[in-house]
Parts: sequence; C-alpha cells; structure tokens
Amino acid sequence: MGSRLVGYGSYLPEHIMTNQDFERLMDTTDEWITSRTGIKTRHFARDDETVVDMATIAAQRALDNAKLTINDIDLIMVATTTPELDFPSVGVQVSGRLGAKNNLPAFDLRGACTGYIYALHCARGFFTAGMHQRIMIIGAEKMTRFIDMSDRSTAVLFGDGAGALIFEHSSSGYSGIIDTVVMADGNEFECLHGTPDHRIAMNGPETYKKAVQCMPDAARYIMKHAGITAENIDWIIPHQANLRIIHSCAAHLAFPMDKILITVDQHANTSGASGVLALAYALDNDIIQHGQLILYPAFGSGLTWGAALIRI
Ligand code: UT7
Repeated sequence: MGSRLVGYGSYLPEHIMTNQDFERLMDTTDEWITSRTGIKTRHFARDDETVVDMATIAAQRALDNAKLTINDIDLIMVATTTPELDFPSVGVQVSGRLGAKNNLPAFDLRGACTGYIYALHCARGFFTAGMHQRIMIIGAEKMTRFIDMSDRSTAVLFGDGAGALIFEHSSSGYSGIIDTVVMADGNEFECLHGTPDHRIAMNGPETYKKAVQCMPDAARYIMKHAGITAENIDWIIPHQANLRIIHSCAAHLAFPMDKILITVDQHANTSGASGVLALAYALDNDIIQHGQLILYPAFGSGLTWGAALIRI
C-alpha cells in the first residue's frame, strides 16, 4: 500500500529582505553572504503574522490545488519549531481556521530542519498500516522570531514561510512517499539549538561538517534500501540551508547540479518549511514533471537528518 501526491500549496510573506538590507543593519556584505551561503533574499513575516496564519494559507492553497475541502482530509501533521503558542498545536489551529467539521486529528512534530522528512516518514507508516486516507503535511516556520540582529553569523541565514502537501492512499507502492529514513544524534546538541530566550545558537563550521556527511549518508541509505542508483533519480531536493553544502552533497553523490533544485538563494533557510516550499516552487514553475522520482535529503538541529524518496 502506498500513496500519491494530490495537492500542494505554499505561502511566502510579502516582505522580501535583501542582502543589501542587511548591509544597512549590520557589519556584513552581499559578497560575504552570497559567497558563503548562496543566499540573496529571504521573506520576513510581519510582526503580527503567525506560523498559524502562514500555515493556514498554504493549507487552503493545497486544498484548492487538490480540489478538496478540509473535510476530505483525515490527518494534519505540521512540522514546525517556531509556534507562537505551546498549545494547542498549529495543526489543530489550522483545522479550526479552515472550519473542519470531521473531528480531524492534527498534531505538530518538532524535527527542526528535518521536520518535514519526519512528517513524510510518519505518513508513509500510516498509509502502509492503512490508518489514513488523506494526510496533509505542512511545514511552517517563523524563523524571524529567533533571529538576533546583533548576531551577523546567524541573522542572515534564515527566512519565513509555509508549504503544504496532500497525499492520498493508493494501492501502488511506486508513487507518492515510496521510502523514508530518519535519524538523530542528541550527542551533537551543541552544534545547533534554540535558547530559552528564543535565539539561535550555532557552531556554523561544525554544523556544516555534519551536514555534508549526514545528507549524503541518508541519500545513499535510501538509494540502497530502494534498490536504485543516482541514475534513477530525476531530481534531488536537499534541505535549503547553504548553497556550498548543497554543492558538496552533489559532489559526494556524483549527482549533476542541474538536477538539484535550489531555492536557498530566494528563500534562505526556512527550516521545517524548506523542502515543502522547494517542492511547491518546482511544481508551480513546471520544473518537476508528473512521474518524476525525487530524492529529498534533510539535516538540522538535534542533530536530526533523514531522506525521503517520492514520486510526483
Ligand atoms: O539548517 C540547519 C543546518 N544549518 C546549517 O547547515 C548551517 C551550516 N553552517 C554554515 O552554513 C556556515 O558555517 C555559515 C554560513 C554559518 C558560516 O560560514 P563559514 O564559512 O563557516 O564562516 P565562519 O563561521 O567560519 O566565519 C568566517 C568569518 C568569521 O570572521 P573571522 O573570525 O574569520 O574574522 C566570521 O566572524 O566570517 C565572519 N562572519 C561574517 N562576515 C560577514 C560570520 N558571519 C558573517 C556575516 N558577514 N554575516
């Protein structure tokens, strides 16, 4: 038993923050940011715009895209690390905003930048067990809540946004979420974590070293497990944290850069929304075609990492 993707949607806040905007605010340059990260712009939410606001818009767009209503969905999972409220979950709030009348179960999961892969992993298990018919996965983050404008080493790296994917149960095991793997190593907590006063603490170079090992490892694991090689894959959509990390992963996997989707230049690192926003971008722009096989590796705080294999 498997699944198929039946709808997607995304939302990016209106305000675009450029590297030149950062030059005016702190001791940094467009040249440094571009050469070290590949980032040119990122979207920043308004002060009064919440993770729930962004997630709700992305969810409604995914429903419209799938020609469904919220009552056709039987589970919502939200990958987020930046909810404004500790409870209830963003998922439950989204279902309420969309007027769900079917006692729709919803929950959030915290996998940091790997959150959307953890959600795909859960969805695969639920479909395999025959527990759900249509699952909505949302990745939504307001990273600006954690941005400390006095820390140039992290402030320039992140952006806000939300994406939503709807998967439907299918009898084919060769479409939708075909395979997933998730991993974590809590011994590496110090690399990257949030602080109680809502700031980002990151050892950039150490995190970088781990990212360029872990994402290719997860990608290789999935290919071996699924019995495929790099030639079988049409696109890799890596977690969008840093263009240099993406180049390095491509080199490790001997995969051509023209088959690797890049949105980090426009969106920066949107953590748990990153891969969902990137897939929505590729579909909106007809970059990825129906039937293509996508390898989806991710890496983040925890440390957490993993990968998914999906067919569109
Ligand atoms: O999504 C979760 C996973 N997160 C990641 O994967 C992030 C992984 N790490 C990275 O992407 C990179 O380590 C960074 C982009 C964060 C930093 O790049 P780096 O090449 O590792 O730079 P660095 O931290 O070694 O810093 C090099 C220099 C330092 O100056 P000195 O000590 O050499 O004089 C920094 O103070 O760059 C300086 N620097 C900056 N300069 C201008 C740090 N941030 C900035 C900045 N503008 N914004």
